Amino acid sequence: MQIRVVQGAVAQQADAIVVVGTWANEELPASVAGLIEASDWSGKYKKTTVLYLGAQATGNPTFASRRVLLVGLGKRELWNAERARVIGAILAQRIRDLGLTSYSLPLLGSEVLGISRTAEALSEGALLGAYRFDGFKTLPDDFVPSVALEQVTLVAEAELEAAEFGAQWGIALAHGVNLARDLGNNPPIVATPTYLAEASKTIARDYGMTCLVLDHEQQQELGMGALIGVAKGAAEPAKFIVLEHGQAEPGKPTICLVGKGITFDTGGISIKPADNMDKMKMDMQGAGAVIGTMEAVGRLKLPIHVVALVAATENMPGSNAYKPGDILKAMNGVTIEVLNTDAEGRLVLADALSYAQKYNPAAIIDLATLTGACVVALGSYAAGAMTNNQALLQRVQHAAEGSGDRVWELPLWDEYRRQVRSDVADIKNTGGRNGGAITAGAFLSHFVGDYPWVHLDIAGVAWTEDQPKEYNPKGATGYGVRLLTELLREWSGVSL
Ligand code: BES
Ligand code: MN
Ligand code: ZN
Repeated sequence: MQIRVVQGAVAQQADAIVVVGTWANEELPASVAGLIEASDWSGKYKKTTVLYLGAQATGNPTFASRRVLLVGLGKRELWNAERARVIGAILAQRIRDLGLTSYSLPLLGSEVLGISRTAEALSEGALLGAYRFDGFKTLPDDFVPSVALEQVTLVAEAELEAAEFGAQWGIALAHGVNLARDLGNNPPIVATPTYLAEASKTIARDYGMTCLVLDHEQQQELGMGALIGVAKGAAEPAKFIVLEHGQAEPGKPTICLVGKGITFDTGGISIKPADNMDKMKMDMQGAGAVIGTMEAVGRLKLPIHVVALVAATENMPGSNAYKPGDILKAMNGVTIEVLNTDAEGRLVLADALSYAQKYNPAAIIDLATLTGACVVALGSYAAGAMTNNQALLQRVQHAAEGSGDRVWELPLWDEYRRQVRSDVADIKNTGGRNGGAITAGAFLSHFVGDYPWVHLDIAGVAWTEDQPKEYNPKGATGYGVRLLTELLREWSGVSL
């Protein structure tokens, strides 16, 4: 799907369909006032209706198109970037359902949000909302028109350049998010550690980054005993991926992004129940977020040094698998008693976070589908955020507000760190049921030294079944790409 920006007025676009937005409780725009009874239309947020102008109406002074899609924008004072994304998604879905392949829309609500932010949010919403994971579908579907959207035209009345700039951001973000979604939606037989490594190499090649993939021997040389322990049960080789954009410069920050890349989590010897185990193909969405962010960063050529680190392996049972009772030694020397092989994410992150320290980073941010406890605590509307540095968390919170990828802080008091002390090793890999999301964060805090660090538990937000947000179709959401890219944008001083 292509998004282009043109200057002009929507009414003059001879497109398959053109969009007109109206605010709730306000008079209808003159262009449509004569086409619909005011009492039939309220402008309520997310409502849409199609007006067919008929053959004789074409060539009339008002619309060059034969079809108009009216969309309710809700109350003007509630309009914001999130609403613009949602409306952008609804328009794309509605128009595709009509069996049309192109449409034109004005910069809805730009008098409230500004031109570039509106162009960004609308194009982001359209590309995110139109996403489908259908590469494996071969049977024709009777109900959904099988058309794909081909062209979306954003029509700017003025300030074409600002609109184009904003659209470029929306497009870059959406491509990053949709890449993360593809990685998460692909079956685990496809999205293996090797596949994540290949995806990272492709990004490196496309955008002039460097990509290093450490194999088993190299992991061993570095002392990555925790990652190696988790990978023991898997026939698929574990990969440790280092994808680097830009380079260290004196006085400039290095940001390390760390992703949990469990490409399938059976639980290992502490095996999970069969119900819903299929969902554990998405247990690499921390990695997906980090890799997707690098795609967006590459497209946008963000002027900032970013190092993405992904610890990728399956978590499998088997005669060679690691066992409860085992003691593993992470790269930073900390010893870990394994009480439950299903608490594997924190183990692979232990080595990835230890590795991050060698960059002397201004920030380490890890993303992981880490605990069911976080899903219980926050549901599917916010990631759990834990930190050793409030200033860094504030940056993350600010970027979360702007991007729509929400976070909510959970405390990391010393008591929680005590809860993961082991009798026979330094720490143990579970602290019991109580405070399970936080004790997982407390565990991770042993591997970041004194570097500013934020841990995001995305277990509840990485996957969606019921599409509470219109721009997140069923399946992997790609949560984190927009948050991280926004954080990097703000940190690098680029403004929208
Ligand atoms: N990948 C799971 C966490 C998860 C659960 C992600 C639900 C997404 C949805 C993780 O590896 C796990 O199994 N965690 C255990 C930890 C426990 C054994 C301490 C959990 O949450 O039950
Ligand atoms: Mn697990
Ligand atoms: Zn897991």
